[in-house]
Amino acid sequence: MSEAPTHELTVVVLAAGGGTRMKSKTMKVLHQVGGRSMIGHVLTAVRSVEPHRVVAVVGHQREQVGAHVQALVPDVVLAVQEVLDGTGGAVRVAMEASGTSRGTVVVATGDTPLLEGESLKRFVAEHRAAEQVVSILSGVVADPYGYGRILRNHEGDVEAIVEEKDASPDQREIAEISSGILAFDAEFLVGALPRLTNDNAKGEYYLTDTVRIAREDGLTVGAFPIDDVRQTEGANDRVQLAEMGREMNRRIVTRWMRDGVTVMDPATTWIDADVKLAEDVTLLPGVQLLGATVVAEDAVIGPDTTLKDCEIGVGARVVRAHAELSVIGDHAEVGPFARLRPGTNLGVRGKIGTFVETKNARIADGAKVPHLSYVGDAEIGEGANIGAGTIFANYDGVTKSRTVVGKHAKTGSNNTFIAPVEIGDGASTGGGTVVRRNVPPGALAVSGGPQRNLPGWVQSKRSGTPQAEAALEAGRGPGRASDDQGEGD
Ligand code: UD1
Ligand code: MG
Repeated sequence: MSEAPTHELTVVVLAAGGGTRMKSKTMKVLHQVGGRSMIGHVLTAVRSVEPHRVVAVVGHQREQVGAHVQALVPDVVLAVQEVLDGTGGAVRVAMEASGTSRGTVVVATGDTPLLEGESLKRFVAEHRAAEQVVSILSGVVADPYGYGRILRNHEGDVEAIVEEKDASPDQREIAEISSGILAFDAEFLVGALPRLTNDNAKGEYYLTDTVRIAREDGLTVGAFPIDDVRQTEGANDRVQLAEMGREMNRRIVTRWMRDGVTVMDPATTWIDADVKLAEDVTLLPGVQLLGATVVAEDAVIGPDTTLKDCEIGVGARVVRAHAELSVIGDHAEVGPFARLRPGTNLGVRGKIGTFVETKNARIADGAKVPHLSYVGDAEIGEGANIGAGTIFANYDGVTKSRTVVGKHAKTGSNNTFIAPVEIGDGASTGGGTVVRRNVPPGALAVSGGPQRNLPGWVQSKRSGTPQAEAALEAGRGPGRASDDQGEGD
């Protein structure tokens, strides 16, 4: 260590392994928990130590993994490990690709989604304060199977890490394990990597053997146990992935409750890592808040509601709804049983009611679509009311067109609006109207011929049926010629 100490910090994230136990066409580190890839969580934690350089080691499916990592960390250095010859080999290609030779190098793996930035920060600080060449983030676990065990001498000093497959029965009893997260003095690491051998049970170059090398050279090493060992756990198969997802969710939900969100049933409430909630939001059972969803103060969501990438206004009420890429205004009401497809924008105190589907629709402040409707490619003006059972017919089989409904328009029940069409401000439409032509402001539109009643039709076409019997009993059988012939609406 001839040069002056430098605070340059390089983080190497290992992600070359295949993750075969996932039995998946998707690489292990790209599987999601809490709405984010596992490696995405690790890279988020890494960001909080403000590294000068992030190096990701890719191997299996390097295009897929590399592109994903680059999208998250644009200036990442991608190091390709052609032959998966162990974690030591992986770090060697990382050092070569990045040209790192000074400062501190932290090595992490891409499959520990619960790792928190604060823990990584503390570990880096501990490593620097201890002035040792290798630090291990260790943990004491109930079941150490599969991990590298920390060997300490009688004074308690760390001597080596022994891998599961190379450990003696006695060593396998050791409960202090290496999390796989290590911090190094870069100069020491560069010197030690070529000295690794693959003379071990797995025939791999173990990064963990650098500990033994440091001790042989009389240099100091140490391990810092983390209390919350789950932060260093990886998910290797789908069972562990689900457990990890549940644990992450438990942590996220707990954090939001501490920040002032009422959660009636934490076990059935799922909140993705990137969701943002204000104080006094209430979440009822069976709620999933996904993606980049944001919920403002006093909104009540649920029960049984899924919101993905939605923005929910102050005091809004969303009941049994499924919504994606939609904006719901302050004090607006949605549901029960509503489906909001992308591009729905509901104004302040607006309403999307029961059995209503919307898509690419702006429903202005105070406007209401209360019942049984499809609203696609629409602009509904302020204070307008859409009658029950209205279909915005936006698609003629070839092109999609828009419907505009003016402010304070009141449309009748069971209407069909054949787009492109415009209903003017303050206009009305009668029940059952099929609107094919624009309706001027203030006009009433009606369509279809006047109602015609054909007396005795049931008796002549359906005689002998319960329907005809009922008609007979009502004295409305054949011969009631006084019934009207086509008057009325
Ligand atoms: C490793 C550690 C072990 C630690 C455990 C924590 C070594 C030798 N062992 O064991 O001490 O307790 O992690 O989970 O380091 N990888 C590559 N290239 C390779 C091999 C691995 O990038 O050639 C990546 C893998 O994708 C993975 C990580 O390195 O993300 C760890 O590799 P893995 O094979 O899972 O090592 P473990 O046996 O779990
Ligand atoms: Mg592993």
